[in-house]
Amino acid sequence: MSAYEYIDHTYDVVVIGAGGSGLRATLGMAEQGLKTACVTKVFPTRSHTVAAQGGIAASLSNMGPDHWQWHLYDTVKGSDWLGDTDAMEYLAREAPKAVYELEHYGVPFSRTEDGRIYQRPFGGHTTEFGEGPPVQRTCAAADRTGHAILHTLYGQSLKNNAEFFIEYFALDLIFTEDGECQGVLAWKLDDGTIHRFSAKMVVLATGGYGRAYFSATSAHTCTGDGGGMVARQGLTLQDMEFVQFHPTGIYGAGVLITEGARGEGGYLTNSEGERFMERYAPTYKDLASRDVVSRCMTLEIREGRGVGEGKDHIHLHLDHLPKEALAERLPGITESARIFAGVDVTREPIPVLPTVHYNMGGVPTNYWGEVLNPTKKDHDAIQPGLMAVGEAGCASVHGANRLGSNSLIDLVVFGRAAAIKAGKVVDPETSNRPLNEASVEKSMARFDAFRHADGAMPTSELRLTMQRTMQADAAVFRTDKTLKEGVQKMADVAKGMHDIKVSDRSMIWNTDLMETLELANLMPNALATVVSAEARKESRGAHAQEDHPDRDDKSWRKHTLALVDDTDKVTLSYRDVHLDPLTSHDEGGIDLKKIAPKARVY
Ligand code: FUM
Repeated sequence: MSAYEYIDHTYDVVVIGAGGSGLRATLGMAEQGLKTACVTKVFPTRSHTVAAQGGIAASLSNMGPDHWQWHLYDTVKGSDWLGDTDAMEYLAREAPKAVYELEHYGVPFSRTEDGRIYQRPFGGHTTEFGEGPPVQRTCAAADRTGHAILHTLYGQSLKNNAEFFIEYFALDLIFTEDGECQGVLAWKLDDGTIHRFSAKMVVLATGGYGRAYFSATSAHTCTGDGGGMVARQGLTLQDMEFVQFHPTGIYGAGVLITEGARGEGGYLTNSEGERFMERYAPTYKDLASRDVVSRCMTLEIREGRGVGEGKDHIHLHLDHLPKEALAERLPGITESARIFAGVDVTREPIPVLPTVHYNMGGVPTNYWGEVLNPTKKDHDAIQPGLMAVGEAGCASVHGANRLGSNSLIDLVVFGRAAAIKAGKVVDPETSNRPLNEASVEKSMARFDAFRHADGAMPTSELRLTMQRTMQADAAVFRTDKTLKEGVQKMADVAKGMHDIKVSDRSMIWNTDLMETLELANLMPNALATVVSAEARKESRGAHAQEDHPDRDDKSWRKHTLALVDDTDKVTLSYRDVHLDPLTSHDEGGIDLKKIAPKARVY
């Protein structure tokens, strides 16, 4: 028996995480009358979605012709033909509905002259199945769209009687002996109490694991907690080799400068003052897909055409844009550039560098957010009692590369889908199963071991080694050599967890312990990333493998599944990509010929 006492709670649904997807799921569950709790380690409106700037993609056609099938085509091409077609169709079709719902909930979108939702161009979003000009598809609330969405969804969730457990750190999922997820164990950070949440459905909305890297636009809270919890239950992570670098992180600080800056007319230059994207992507130029732009910037720097003393970054120009447009459409990044780069954007370029921004991989799910536990016979077998949405999940809608502004729409479309599904499969009339004490005790023993860990390796030191390793060896460009070294180095880094030193033994606001638990969550995510990347002998989307520069659909158009066990061994297997759309062409769906694989040029 553990020495810890528990405070028990019983719900129909528990959502872990209060970013865009967590709040949209929470709201949808509560609206249907399900007794819903949202457990979150930060105050909801401080979740990382608050940092989302440029906007949310939906084919509203407010600024010119658009169609959900063009959005689907762009998403398929952006994914480099690795996304699941059913999930991508669901995203593109449901997007307008999901955005209008947000509008009706009260999101203060920017407006056109005639009062409609303002939309801006974003990389990789086009018309006429990639044959026409860029489309203005990204709905924006200035450059603070995530902020506007979070505040609205939190208010609506409260209005619908969802209950919030704020500054509770989720320690582990609770599983029944027969393998059903039945709840979550959490540590209340401000008073040190331990809470057991029983639920018929647990939804992971824990965000990405950007902090496995040294330089990331992600908040320090993005520590892959969902992936860590899932790995500890012997479930797989999917497509972890695909890590997105955003072209325009502020040099040095890593702070995001939205792609909306280029959408509003900004452009990149090298040390010769050349608008080099014209050379690499003659049609869409600075609005090519972001994996493409990040690689081109890296090539310019490598070839000696970087700017600055170290010739190690690139310039982003907004200085030619009218001051009024900057003030109205891009006030947030104008301020960020001043604070973090000391730059007045009306007069000087912003120093920028590709920076880790998003994880395409995550916990495998179907398009309802139900977690998959693939078996050899059934690649789509469902894990009972568990869902994953947002960046924590992998539906797989972004495949090998996500288009800008497809993240916010993913959060709300799939948060909403999870709620619709839960409304069908969760019966509020039945009782919750008694909690499996053995599962709880195992987690508490692990917690207690970390709390009293007395090794030689401070958490911050091990974390830094992990971050530097990932930054160097699983970067924008990868080779057989760097990845092999990365696999070896990360195996050594992971061993460091057994020699970890925690100095603070208290239970109240023990950030030393919390950061250690977060590092323990980051570790399986990082291991899965580098091992999956080492194995994939092709280049696709964000995985640019210089020794295997071509995409190889015959051998590699498949999802990677990585199982990270408690000895840090990573075992890989693969899962078929869903090639069938939800709607046949005869019934108004896309003509499959339109989305057949081809060379990906912008
Ligand atoms: O550039 C941005 O505003 C980021 C958007 C996104 O990642 O979707």
